[in-house]
Amino acid sequence: MRTNIIDPPTTRIDAAAMAADHRRSIRQYESTPIPQADLTELLRLAARAPSAFNAQPWRFVVVQDPALKAALSAAAYGQQQILRAPATIVLYSDMVDALDRMPDSMHPDMPQDKRDAGVESFRATFANQSEAERETWGQAQANIALGYLLLLAESKGYATSPMLGFQPEKVKTLLGLPEHVRIPALVAIGYPAEEGFRPHRLPIETLMDFR
Ligand SMILES: Cc1cc2nc3c(=O)[nH]c(=O)nc-3n(C[C@H](O)[C@H](O)[C@H](O)COP(=O)(O)O)c2cc1C
Repeated sequence: MRTNIIDPPTTRIDAAAMAADHRRSIRQYESTPIPQADLTELLRLAARAPSAFNAQPWRFVVVQDPALKAALSAAAYGQQQILRAPATIVLYSDMVDALDRMPDSMHPDMPQDKRDAGVESFRATFANQSEAERETWGQAQANIALGYLLLLAESKGYATSPMLGFQPEKVKTLLGLPEHVRIPALVAIGYPAEEGFRPHRLPIETLMDFR
């Protein structure tokens, strides 16, 4: 039998599978707040997502203040789930910060010369790219963290509503975020107050091809 070096407990695998099968968007929420420690733990785990070069360009702003939630909802075409959920996580990516912090992103178990070379190679990759190209690359990485966040929230008993229906410039102004950052999604999160629609997806047979 194949032995696994990391040996993950099967319960953890089942939890991920169950979360993927059951998760759906929820737009009605209980007003019960989420403990700050739970939110912090959720974001810590979402930030375990892998990224190219281990660049980790994702950043999170957790909006709970009622006035700020109202302004965020207005910047999101009035989407009500932001008002109903106790928190909305603004997931953004920032490649300027990721480039600055690349030395800290290199694995500490690697020898220093390899770490220096890794930083150099990462910076060289973006040296000739426009800001738009660089930030688009960062946004693609941040979407991996978005997937993690949605699954992890489900596995911890929280419901989510990811949103792309918002005006990024308004959200940036509201939160004082730099102009160059990208916002892959707003994610309303809380305890569900509706069942939501059961997940509906295209049959997997129509989406795959074995060769
Ligand atoms: C990146 C992203 C952006 C989305 N934007 C919105 C949105 O702005 N408003 C909304 O009500 N739902 C939004 N959705 C929810 C999708 O409509 C929903 O995920 C999809 O229909 C599948 O349904 P399910 O999440 O219930 O399985 C978004 C989902 C994703 C992943």
